[in-house]
Amino acid sequence: MSKVISGFSKLTKQEKINWLAKNYFKKESEVEKIIQQYWNSDKKLQQLHDDFIENTITNFYMPFGVAPNFLINNETYLVPMVIEESSVVAAASLVAKFWSTRGGFKTTVLGTTKIGQVHFMFQGEKEDLTTYFNKNKKALFAATATITRNMEKRGGGILDISLIDKTDKLANYYQLHVTFETKDSMGANFINSCLEAIAIVFRNEKIEIVMSILSNFLPECIVRAEVSCTIDELGGDNPQKFAEKFHQAVKIAQIEPYRAVTHNKGIMNGIDAVVLATGNDFRAIEAGAHAYASKDGSYKSLSYCEIENGIFKFWLDIPLALGTVGGLTGLHPIAKLSLEMLQNPSAKRLMEITAAAGLAQNFAALRALTTKGIQHGHMKMHLHNILNQLGANEEEKVEITVFFEGKTVSHSAVVSKFEELRILKG
Ligand code: MEV
Repeated sequence: MSKVISGFSKLTKQEKINWLAKNYFKKESEVEKIIQQYWNSDKKLQQLHDDFIENTITNFYMPFGVAPNFLINNETYLVPMVIEESSVVAAASLVAKFWSTRGGFKTTVLGTTKIGQVHFMFQGEKEDLTTYFNKNKKALFAATATITRNMEKRGGGILDISLIDKTDKLANYYQLHVTFETKDSMGANFINSCLEAIAIVFRNEKIEIVMSILSNFLPECIVRAEVSCTIDELGGDNPQKFAEKFHQAVKIAQIEPYRAVTHNKGIMNGIDAVVLATGNDFRAIEAGAHAYASKDGSYKSLSYCEIENGIFKFWLDIPLALGTVGGLTGLHPIAKLSLEMLQNPSAKRLMEITAAAGLAQNFAALRALTTKGIQHGHMKMHLHNILNQLGANEEEKVEITVFFEGKTVSHSAVVSKFEELRILKG
């Protein structure tokens, strides 16, 4: 039986489900049941979600949690987070509370410039190309007038267009490097539309346009989030020792790429969760963050730590091209809810909140790693998942949770305890 199908997108939703159930699953009716279980009973709402992409057959649930007590630049936020990893929201909440009594997070947007490029091939003299570019630069701006009009009213638009010679890396290869300010929108569609309009005007018989597209590498769209306090304020049995070990952990992530990737993954646990909750493009954010972490030629930590004159300082610099208007932000009812929860922030404010969530997550991970180890808290949170996987009933869940209080949770220890209980209770 061939599983290649033509015209799949033209089938109705039910026809698609029938086809895939028949061709890819053993228990057809069960598959259909699971798929339908996740449909929204509100048909209009379901249709809205169906229309986000092609070939939608159902919805994929992710937990939507909230982390309270995020004091950021003296304002308190309740931060929405969409994530499946059990310990992330708990860690964010704990750390937010911790820093709320130590001055909170201080954040600064260091830049909001976005970048797009028209990549093209030119075989003639560079001088001729430069003359052609300079002569036509105004016309390139003019080519985007209808697209940029509204953005300009909001204070954004094209900042500059420059000609870049890349022929030392690839024969005949040049770029138009275009910088943008997109205010409260992430700006992907705006940027790509401008670039395509520019390319049409720029091309001639000697200029072959290869492609026109925004860049997700945004070293000039950066936000800094920072926490600091005296070493004594860190608390615990030996705050000096804690600060020093924490500092070492950050320094290791600065020079050791294997560790840096995991260190930054911890930061992205917080970042992605807010990015998802607010309907932003987490793939763009991920790509940009890791590219930025490699900007000096080797992959490094996105966060930094300093201990000076008894002050512990910990901060993060990260590119975050976020929007609070356009895209899914105004379309997805839960994304809208998240933004309202954050008091309908500007894109800049959302950059700050998101960076604070990333720093909080990084602090939580490093605090755990350099003290009790990561598994202690992680497995405690994961206990519920293991119990659900085992099919434990409510009574068993309570009993086993109580049993593991103060003990280290491991998958095998939970399974043994569960089996022991079942045997005991017959
Ligand atoms: C797990 O999701 C994230 C951590 O591995 C981050 C880190 O190691 O810093 C705990």
